[in-house]
Amino acid sequence: MKRVAILISGGGSNMVRLVEDMTGDHPARPCLVLSNVPGAGGLGRAEALGVPTAVVDHRDFADRAAFEAVLDAELRKAAPDILCLAGFMRILTEGFVRRWQGRMLNIHPSLLPKYRGLDTHARALAAGEAEAGCTVHGVTAALDDGPILGQARVPVLPGDTPAGLAARVLVQEHVLYPAVLRRFAAGDARPVLMP
Ligand code: GRF
Repeated sequence: MKRVAILISGGGSNMVRLVEDMTGDHPARPCLVLSNVPGAGGLGRAEALGVPTAVVDHRDFADRAAFEAVLDAELRKAAPDILCLAGFMRILTEGFVRRWQGRMLNIHPSLLPKYRGLDTHARALAAGEAEAGCTVHGVTAALDDGPILGQARVPVLPGDTPAGLAARVLVQEHVLYPAVLRRFAAGDARPVLMP
């Protein structure tokens, strides 16, 4: 049974879906939900689901390396086989990524390689895209890069706002990420492509 640690910074709606899916014949179980933000909404949701939680507040550290040293220590205690970044809003150094490369997933709200970085929906709308979506990828040192493990597409509709498009994409994130984790934890890295 694979052990999965999930890193969050906010409400954790993706984390909730991942945890809720890890039951029955799923080859993984959640072992930790960790946030860099004290009081993040997802921490209470994880506790309500019976998952151990931890906080490592990045503001307590002078630099990324010091933050990641404590992050590593918390993770070692939970001994995860797989890390899932789910709305985790810190950029991780190459050293950290290298220690977890091949076992660390992230969900990004665009159809990578398009729209790496922030404000993905506003940028897609400004560019007049006909479709948008989300991507689950293996995390590498380059931001929002790495092997694509899953993608879900949604249409851009007339009058869409960034918030409206984000909400439509989020519905797909909640289906895609659990599907990718289930396959990845079973040792199958073939991408999940929806629809
Ligand atoms: C999602 O839009 C995800 O694509 C991005 O951050 C948001 C996370 O939301 N990485 P939540 O914290 O999982 O609700």
